[in-house]
Amino acid sequence: MTAADLRRKYLEFFQSKGHAVISGKSLIPENDPTVLFNTAGMQPLVPYLLGEKHPLGNRLVDVQKCVRTGDIDEVGDPSHLTFFEMLGNWSLGDYFKKDAIAYSYEFLTSKQWLGIDPKKLWVTVFAGEPGIPRDEDSADLWKSHGIPESRISYLPRKDNWWGPAGATGPCGPDSEMFYDTGRVCPKGEGCEGPACNCRKWLEIWNDVFMQYNKDSDGNYVLLAKPNVDTGMGVERTSTILQGKLSVYETELFTPIIAAVEKASGYRYGTDEAHDTYVRVVCDHVKTSCFILGDDLGVKPSNVGQGYVLRKLIRRAVRNGRKLGVTEPFLKGPAAAVLAIYRGVYDEIVDRANLIFEELTHEEERFLKTLEHGEKEWEKMLPGLMKNPQKVVSGRTAFKLYDTYGFPVEITTDLATENGLTVDRAGFDEAFSKHQELSKAGADKTFKGGLADHSEMTTALHTATHLMHKALQMVLGDHARQKGSNITPERLRFDFSHEAKMTPEQVAEVEQIVNTQIQRGLPVTMTMMSLQDAKAQGAMALFGEKYEETIKVYRIGDFSMEVCGGPHVENTEGMGHFKIQKEEASSAGVRRIRAVLEHQAP
Ligand code: SER
Repeated sequence: MTAADLRRKYLEFFQSKGHAVISGKSLIPENDPTVLFNTAGMQPLVPYLLGEKHPLGNRLVDVQKCVRTGDIDEVGDPSHLTFFEMLGNWSLGDYFKKDAIAYSYEFLTSKQWLGIDPKKLWVTVFAGEPGIPRDEDSADLWKSHGIPESRISYLPRKDNWWGPAGATGPCGPDSEMFYDTGRVCPKGEGCEGPACNCRKWLEIWNDVFMQYNKDSDGNYVLLAKPNVDTGMGVERTSTILQGKLSVYETELFTPIIAAVEKASGYRYGTDEAHDTYVRVVCDHVKTSCFILGDDLGVKPSNVGQGYVLRKLIRRAVRNGRKLGVTEPFLKGPAAAVLAIYRGVYDEIVDRANLIFEELTHEEERFLKTLEHGEKEWEKMLPGLMKNPQKVVSGRTAFKLYDTYGFPVEITTDLATENGLTVDRAGFDEAFSKHQELSKAGADKTFKGGLADHSEMTTALHTATHLMHKALQMVLGDHARQKGSNITPERLRFDFSHEAKMTPEQVAEVEQIVNTQIQRGLPVTMTMMSLQDAKAQGAMALFGEKYEETIKVYRIGDFSMEVCGGPHVENTEGMGHFKIQKEEASSAGVRRIRAVLEHQAP
């Protein structure tokens, strides 16, 4: 069964259970500053999990592109990836544990669907903690389907609690499904099942029973209606359905491996350490293609998503060097990635040129960085060799990193070649001090978000619609939204436009928005078909491919935009709109930062 078969079957199965198929969203979250990327299928659905009404009802199913970098150090093993696809089904206050578990069991084991041997399945449930009981309900439900007590593990919060995805948001206990790969655990008979974390057990699906919203004060507030959020990994599930032991043995990776072999001359399967470098390159190049080629794609930079992208590309280059590659080489593997996802994620296929150019450009830039760093190293070397302990201090390694962008791993390689060692603990210390400082800055932006429906965020969201329209009036129809990020303090909006806005244009946009606010316009929502919305001239951003019905927000007679909400009911009292900053974001894209100030009395 191919990944394509799996995606299709999943959607079909849940459609047969009354779920509406919705399109997966951009990798880069809209209006949600709590995370850099969608790390799970539930993220674009946060407003609905918190009670907003979804136009397609209470049962939804989709396939969502996700990027997770939390596990980056494990990438290269058989199952951890930075990019993956998540199959998800949702109950928005509709069914709960009983149906969720029944659906999971049927889809996994029924011959009509995946036909997995039930004897190979283990499940985990929440063990409970003071104030939250052990999840006997889920355990009993699994037993009712024939999973014996001996294959149920009761695990604590660190294993069986999901969310929130960012600092705030919906969360709850979960029940995870594991497949016994048949590998032998190093502990043999002493293996404790999925809690062991050995490679014998592969987690393939997670049913989250969302009962709480964690608010910005850290309180767990019971949701009015509990939801179900499930996530099944396409890559891992394909692996087991194909009888393979590693995601890299599936058609989602083999062509990329072949391309890395071609570029490096290394033959995959020759040596385990080098095979790991190949796998890391494959993973990182795939993720980079999806970040660059997203509808809201970003380019390498030193902040936010651009920084993650830069790190991924540079890690791929470093691993390539370990395979003996010294020239830019990622274009070939990237072409393999695009070919795999043709017809599934055409956004990356359509942006092939941009992806190839950016990858090569960043590779060249990094190779130059390495060259500079190596020169500095050469200059330092005679002094370093005089050190009686033959140790490169943490401070020196950090200086190479901080000033020249020279990775400590490469400093270590060069040191080894010269019979020196690097004081890694000293480097780590300097590095974490540096991280702490940047984290203190980042924390500020991670507060709030869509999960925090404060009045300010909602008002800023409405202000964003007003400004979007005003920008088109002042600059022209081409001024379209490219990204939006709202915190309770400010809105940030990226839009397509070549030149810097003149002070007059900025003032004009402000004036238009403030006039509309003062008019006290009612904000109304209508559900309609995407076709009707377009015909009526609503601004629409994304490829809502499957949705038959979407929400359209009108602000009086002024603006009409396809949007999930929420918005204020009337523009009156929103405050005074002020643009604080207008700057370049990337080629052809400008960025505005604006606030709503308290109205002068
Ligand atoms: N949110 C859960 C997860 O990411 C289930 O979708 O595992």
